Amino acid sequence: MSTTQSGRYGKVYLIGAGPGASDLVTVRGARVLARADVVLHDALVTDDMLELCPQAHKIAVGKRCGRTSTEQAFINKQLIDNAEKYQIVVRLKGGDPMLFGRADEELRALESHGIEVEVVPGITAALAAAAASRQPLTKRGVARSVAFFTSSTAPNHPDQLTLPDCDTLVQYMGSREAVTTARKMLALGRPPQLPVIVIENCSLEDERILRLQLGELEHGLADCHGPVLVMIGEAMAKRDVRAASSDTTTIPGAGDKAA
Ligand SMILES: C[S@@+](CC[C@H](N)C(=O)[O-])C[C@H]1O[C@@H](n2cnc3c(N)ncnc32)[C@H](O)[C@@H]1O
Repeated sequence: MSTTQSGRYGKVYLIGAGPGASDLVTVRGARVLARADVVLHDALVTDDMLELCPQAHKIAVGKRCGRTSTEQAFINKQLIDNAEKYQIVVRLKGGDPMLFGRADEELRALESHGIEVEVVPGITAALAAAAASRQPLTKRGVARSVAFFTSSTAPNHPDQLTLPDCDTLVQYMGSREAVTTARKMLALGRPPQLPVIVIENCSLEDERILRLQLGELEHGLADCHGPVLVMIGEAMAKRDVRAASSDTTTIPGAGDKAA
């Protein structure tokens, strides 16, 4: 443990922990964790990940989602108090800190006290889910735009759930809300056969990948206990392996040896 040597505050790092597996944090993130005096971490951060900072004092903050603003204000205060006590303070957040991570509130609180902050990006759940399902979010001729969205809104904020107009939709915090998404998409004329992939606990031992269709999603997702990501769009269709082999481009000249 070390306290601030110069100036009133230490430095705060907002680090993306990635989707869960401890080897999916960035090298930079792991290096800062190994030097941290204190780590304030989310509920989604695993014990394996915390083994990357055995020396640090650890403080669990935050719920899985739907934190109230009072709780966020308490986290902001803890960050400031810890920056006053320690030189290296880590705020470790699931996925990437800059996506659905309340980073704006934390950055504002820290910046308003003149505290030095650095953000270390992480692998967001959508990209980890695309990798785990081996299902690219974009696909030539099929999907050229992607939206990461949530229907979870701030308390007292009007419902903002107009659906994004993109080829692939990725819904965060959507295990219950995805039903409404499916209904809205069907009402807009999207086909009930539109492919959907649901991933629970992506990158962890109990990862579950479910393939279904929009018409089935309308009836809900039973039995989800961990964090869930819902990906919707033609790009989620199962690959036709036979079609892929006929796609293989012949490189001029390369055939000479192969023939
Ligand atoms: C508060 S948001 C935080 C998102 C995070 N900042 C990110 O970039 O992934 C939490 C939501 O992210 C998604 N999520 C995070 N980790 C996940 C995982 N390992 N598997 C599936 N979904 C995950 C779920 O939709 C969950 O409800």
